Amino acid sequence: MYKSFNISDNIFYVGVNDRSKQLFENIWPLPKGVSYNSYLIRDEKVALIDAVDICYSELFFNKVDAVLGKTPIDYLIINHMEPDHSGAIAWLVNRYPDIQIVGNNRSADMLKGFYNISDNVLIIKDKESLSLGKCNLQFFLTPMVHWPETMMTYAQEYKTIFTGDAFGSFGTLDGAVLDWQTVPEKYEDEMIRYYSNIVGKYGSQVQVALKKLADVEIETICSTHGPVWTKNENLDKVVALYDKLSRYDSDKGLVIAYGSMYGNVEQVAEVIAAEAAANGIKHIVLHNVSKSHNSEILRDIFKYRGLLIGSPTYNNKLYPGVESLLSAIQNRAMKNRYFGYFGGFTWAGAAVKHLKEFAENSGFEIVEPSVEIKQSLNESTFESAVALGRNMAEKLNNL
Ligand code: FEO
Repeated sequence: MYKSFNISDNIFYVGVNDRSKQLFENIWPLPKGVSYNSYLIRDEKVALIDAVDICYSELFFNKVDAVLGKTPIDYLIINHMEPDHSGAIAWLVNRYPDIQIVGNNRSADMLKGFYNISDNVLIIKDKESLSLGKCNLQFFLTPMVHWPETMMTYAQEYKTIFTGDAFGSFGTLDGAVLDWQTVPEKYEDEMIRYYSNIVGKYGSQVQVALKKLADVEIETICSTHGPVWTKNENLDKVVALYDKLSRYDSDKGLVIAYGSMYGNVEQVAEVIAAEAAANGIKHIVLHNVSKSHNSEILRDIFKYRGLLIGSPTYNNKLYPGVESLLSAIQNRAMKNRYFGYFGGFTWAGAAVKHLKEFAENSGFEIVEPSVEIKQSLNESTFESAVALGRNMAEKLNNL
């Protein structure tokens, strides 16, 4: 039994919480779970906005029934085809054989490819509208936020926009669906982690989408993950955060991510961190790449302007965890960071050489000096590590 939940008079939340899955996209940890949000608009016609992961189909249909009873759904609006939202579509079509699926050219192609569905598909173009009776839906194509077919659906009468992954967050909805029913701050870190892990590569496309929506009057944001944001300071904060993250803007703070087999490279990180703290940097996060998942490290790299990476030499290359992190940073086309590096070797140095190459290709502003230890810190490399911490702090203090 489910009590239906209204977001506004005729908009209902019918999403589900996933507290079982360990890894989102089979990559990103879900310590606080995730929600797959879906929404129903009940008007002269009934529209369902996005579906859920296939594992939750039965629960999802029970929630839909709690709102509609035996009333059929006229339209399924597909804002995003990634299977965490489209997984239940084939079952949905089976349950409502007359349902019309509304999407764009690219979503139609994916619908056919993933689920072999091509009948009853209504293709819409950018800014086209569809009337449900009293409520008019307008569609905004927002490619690459997060896939090429992604779009947003605006319910004009309710000043409510359904944004797909945009403005989404990891973390389940623990009772509360609306921001003001809970403490929205508890989602902030998980929203940054979601953005940096999932959408982070597409900052310029997010900027295009934000500009496209600049004149749309929005009082409610319904994302496919995390809380519904309503017209109060929370909504403005969430939009500002998205704008900031997609411009690769960040706060005064420092991430030091390092690999270390026996603690010697880690000692360099400790010396740098202590010097940065002594020079006034309050937000300093050290990540041992063998312990912290890239998911958390990326979240913090998106938060803070300073980035230092350290690695031992391993088989004449970078330490594997560091290599993986550098690839993830490159993949997200990170910009606007102060960057420094350090590393070590026992008999033949390679890590610092590779970090230098990365730094020179990164477009980041490089903070000197780099530090290279042989076996362990000595007087000279200790002084270099102190200088790197001090110089990084100086850069950050001038922000
Ligand atoms: Fe929540 Fe890109 O799927």
